[in-house]
Amino acid sequence: GKGGHRHYMLKEIYEQPQVIGDTLNAMFNPVERTITLPPLPFALDDVERVTLIACGTSSYAAMVARYWIESIARVPVDLDVGSEFRYRDPPLQAGGLALFISQSGETADTLAALRHCKAKGLRCLSIVNVAESTMARESDAVLTTLAGPEIGVASTKAFTTQLVVLACLTIALARAKGQLDADGEARLSKGLTEVPARAAEILKYDEDLRAIAQTVAEARDVLYLGRGTAFPIALEGALKLKEISYIHAEGYAAGEMKHGPIALIDETVPVIVIAPSDGLFDKTASNVQEVVARGGKVIFLSDSEGNRRLGVTPAFSVVLPAVDPFVAPILYAIPVQLLAYHVAVIKGTDVDQPRNLAKSVTVE
Ligand code: M6R
Repeated sequence: GKGGHRHYMLKEIYEQPQVIGDTLNAMFNPVERTITLPPLPFALDDVERVTLIACGTSSYAAMVARYWIESIARVPVDLDVGSEFRYRDPPLQAGGLALFISQSGETADTLAALRHCKAKGLRCLSIVNVAESTMARESDAVLTTLAGPEIGVASTKAFTTQLVVLACLTIALARAKGQLDADGEARLSKGLTEVPARAAEILKYDEDLRAIAQTVAEARDVLYLGRGTAFPIALEGALKLKEISYIHAEGYAAGEMKHGPIALIDETVPVIVIAPSDGLFDKTASNVQEVVARGGKVIFLSDSEGNRRLGVTPAFSVVLPAVDPFVAPILYAIPVQLLAYHVAVIKGTDVDQPRNLAKSVTVE
């Protein structure tokens, strides 16, 4: 059942502190403060390049992972959506690592890419939520998200648990590649161990986000902005809003605004900014100032330091708890899910079964 919630989606959003903790505990040793992946049939220190392939929300988890793997493990990453990868026919090196991310493990485009990579001699590692899925069966190795069954068509807890697995994989890869010493690993894993408690704290912003949803529900178009690992969260926010509220939304890298989309800005367009205070914050802040100067209705998701440093007054601000920038994309996914959920409820759509969509897309 829905555990007392009105929709499966809301139940699944609220399960996140628990399932994130379960997923992490399967890979984290609290005594040694280290990450231990289940045994893999290949050595991570041999990995020279990672090819990431997924669709939809899972592809945004892959995008976050690209930032992590490149900046922390210093291994180059290619990234594609399943439907583009094969037909692009990229040159692939036998022995390279291909990483597939899928909640269902049945998505046709991702599965076809997996079969293509296997035929080319790549090592295929899948991150799936359904342990007995086709992708799990056909991969050389599998890491599972312990999100439990996800019923809502809009993916929520599968996404945040994918990020947890990808964060652990990044740490293990960085260590294997000699890019992370014990202190570095302890710092990153400390950030990860705090995620379940922070996620629970962030759920308490539900009412604030519901109030803001009223304004978003009146809009025809909505923009989401973020930089660095907040950029894929902007894309995810826009996807979530489109699929369940049917409002047109776009996610942009904050720095791309001035290259075109800023022309859309007026007082009718809500601009949702995902801006945890991190090394890129001031850049994002100056993009927000440009939006505010043009009358844009900014909904600012940051922490208290970010709100202090912004320099302009947004239409709405949500002052979230301060979090380690490494894990910020995991946590900032939650307000974005809640906002889309409340907008959809206001719009009266079928939240768990939005029109034209299937939970698992088994055709190309
Ligand atoms: O099962 P998968 O993770 O492979 O599914 C991929 C996409 O179809 C899925 O994430 C889709 O975009 C969701 N409806 C997003 O909420």
